[in-house]
Order: sequence, then C-alpha cells, then structure tokens
Amino acid sequence: MATVIREPVPEYRFSRRALVQPSAIRELLRDASVPGMISLAGGMPQAQLFDIEGLREATLEAFRQVPRQALQYGPTEGQESLQRALAAHLSQRAIRVSPGSIQVTTGSQQALDLIARAFLDEGDRVALEVPTYLAAVQAFDLRGAQYLEIPAAADGAAVDTLEAALAADRLNPVPKLAYIVSNFGNPGGASLSVERRLALLRWAVARGVFLLEDDPYGDLRFRGHAPPPLWVLAQRMPGAAAWCGYVSSLSKIVAPGLRIGWMVLPPRVANTVTRIKQALDLHTSSLAQEIAARYLLSGKLERRLDAVRRTYAAQCDALCAALHDRLHDEITFSVPDGGMFLWCRFRECVDTAVLLAHAREHGVIFVPGAVFYPRGGDPATLRLSFSTCSADELREGVRRLKLALCSYRERAIATIVPVSKRCP
Ligand SMILES: Cc1ncc(COP(=O)(O)O)c(C=O)c1O
Repeated sequence: MATVIREPVPEYRFSRRALVQPSAIRELLRDASVPGMISLAGGMPQAQLFDIEGLREATLEAFRQVPRQALQYGPTEGQESLQRALAAHLSQRAIRVSPGSIQVTTGSQQALDLIARAFLDEGDRVALEVPTYLAAVQAFDLRGAQYLEIPAAADGAAVDTLEAALAADRLNPVPKLAYIVSNFGNPGGASLSVERRLALLRWAVARGVFLLEDDPYGDLRFRGHAPPPLWVLAQRMPGAAAWCGYVSSLSKIVAPGLRIGWMVLPPRVANTVTRIKQALDLHTSSLAQEIAARYLLSGKLERRLDAVRRTYAAQCDALCAALHDRLHDEITFSVPDGGMFLWCRFRECVDTAVLLAHAREHGVIFVPGAVFYPRGGDPATLRLSFSTCSADELREGVRRLKLALCSYRERAIATIVPVSKRCP
C-alpha cells in the first residue's frame, strides 16, 4: 500500500489586505447548482435572454473585418471601435461624450477597483448608501477604506443626513470618495430621486468629495421615467463636472462573460486611472471589445432590451404578487421599477441568516440582508432576485420560503433562546 506523506500546511505570510472576506453571494452560488433548488439569491442576468445569434454574428464579423487587431495588444483606454459604439449608446441616456473620453474596463468591477486605487489610502473614508453592492465594499476594503454610511430611503440614499453624520463624527476625516448606485440599487432596488441627486452633487462639490455613479441597471427600467444620470446633472451644475464620474457595464444588458465595463471621468482622474490600469492588465481583451463594438453597432441591443425589460417586469410582478399572497402579514417591500432585485424586511424579528438554513432544506435560497452592510446590518432583511427564475419558479420559491419560515419559528420555539433575543 502506498504511504501517504502529509506535507505541512505552508505558513504563507499573506498581506493583511489579502484576507478580504469571501463574498457571501459567491458561496451561495454553489447551493444554486443543487438539483431542484430555487435560487432567489443570484445577481445574474437570465442566460436564456442572451442574444447568442447576435453575438455569434458579431464575433464572426470581428474575425472577418479586424482579425489581427482583435487578437493584438490594444490601447489601455480601449479599442476605438468600442469607444465609438459606447458613445452612441450613452447618448441615448443623454450622456454626450466624445469616444476618446470613455475608459473601457474589464467589467465595471475593475472600474470600481481602479477608482479605489486612484483615491484611497489606508484609513480613507468612502461615503456610501447602506445596504450597498457587496463587491464594491470588497474593492474599497482592499485599499483599507473606512465608511461613512448613508441610510437607504424609499427614494434612494438619504443624502440629507450626510452633514449631520459628518458633524457627529468629527474625529474622522471627510470622505474622499462617495459611491452610489443611482438606479435600482443592488440590493435595495431603489433609485435616487432627482432632488436627492442634486443634493448629493452639491454636497460633493462643497466638500471636495469625488462622486462615483455606478449605473449597471439603468437600462433595465420597465416602469416610469428615468431621472437624469448624476453625470448629466453634474455637467449643468457649476463646478460639479470635475467631481463626478460615471461607471456602467454590458454585463446586465448583453452578457457578463464579455467582461466589458466603462467609465467616463474628468480628465485628470481619467489620466490617473488609465496609468493604474496599464500597470494592472495593460488593457481589456481586444477580442471582447471588437465583438461588443460590432454587437452594439448592429442595433440588435435595443430589440433585445425590450424583451429583457418585459421578462423582468413580468417576473418582478409574479414575485411581488406571490409575496403579497403568502407573506403579506410577515414581510414589507417596495415594488421596484426596474433592475433585478427586491429588498424585503420581516415585520417581526426574524434572523434571515438563520432562516436561510431552513430555506435551503426546503429547496430555496436568498441572500440575508446583513451581508450588504460594511459594518453589519439589519438581520431581518433579505434580497430576492427575480431575474433568473420563471414566474412559476418564483411562486414556488415563495411557497417554500413560507414553509422555511414556519420551520424557523417551530425551531425557535423549541430552543431556549427566544428568536427576539437574537435581534437588536
Ligand atoms: C452595482 C453593481 N456594480 C458593479 C457590478 C459589477 O459588474 P460587472 O463587473 O460584471 O460589470 C455589479 C454586479 O453585480 C453590480 O451589481
């Protein structure tokens, strides 16, 4: 019999920053692949809605028209063809920019990382809405950021609380950066009202805080009128254009596998970011950029987006109706006008991290809300995603969630510690 030699576990001396917490959502992805599991946890677009044929044609065209360019190194700022296509795409949202002022990034996640690297030293603060996009916090954590939290409100982050929060917290420095998901936030689903957009811009200018607008969901509006992007408002407000940047992505509207994101930044910030990107990855995949450019210029995206919006609207309505029918005494939520997420809160004290274990047993998963707060948050909250499940699956998912809630309550009654004692 062969002898197994056990190697000692190596004691690598990793940097402190490398010990960043793994994303709770990525961990949940494993559960999502269990056969029969209904996942209300993922933040992914629906794969059935990918325009496979359109992207295949765009790929063939890239190989036919610019094969060597598509396979060669390219400029750090991005392929000219994609910059032009993105400028045309952005003009539909009233963002009028020259192609050369668009910095292409490897997903918008890289844009967040680049901005964090450009602005943050250890201990610098970032003002952000809570709950907020978890992987943005991870990118800021990697730079050793601290946070000034802006509580969420029905019409977006309660930015009117910022000055009071600063005054209450005088010992800490004024944030260098403010991060906001302006439309259909992940996880909150809310959009910042025009009044709050203007107030946030005024605050950023007055305090010298660089304001980063992250907008991957703006094109997924299925109801109501879109408020102007912060970036657009900033161009009209004296002194504000220099303090505002815009980030978005093709991930939610075309396909995340392309890894195409972009930024529009004031010139000095753009120069700094481009230098950092050069050191990180030289440039985003030339091939993916040439494919994306051809797909955008083909005009197929608008038709595809109509289908995506209609599908998500129907799924969102199905989820809201199921929650209303089965759990309306238990849960509160506001109905989103777009995006992929529904943010919920149990009326009574339910610890959703504990509930998740019961839900798993009943074949449904969701994301407990506390993970979306940098310093821990309300344990009675949860994020439900309606993008990937059919209406029938969403209804079944809510039925299972109700069963999970019953077994959570039964278990809580059976244990010595009452559930209410576990919540603040
Ligand atoms: C608010 C927000 N910003 C940025 C991203 C990153 O997306 P990507 O890197 O795929 O463009 C996501 C992804 O879920 C997101 O929800």
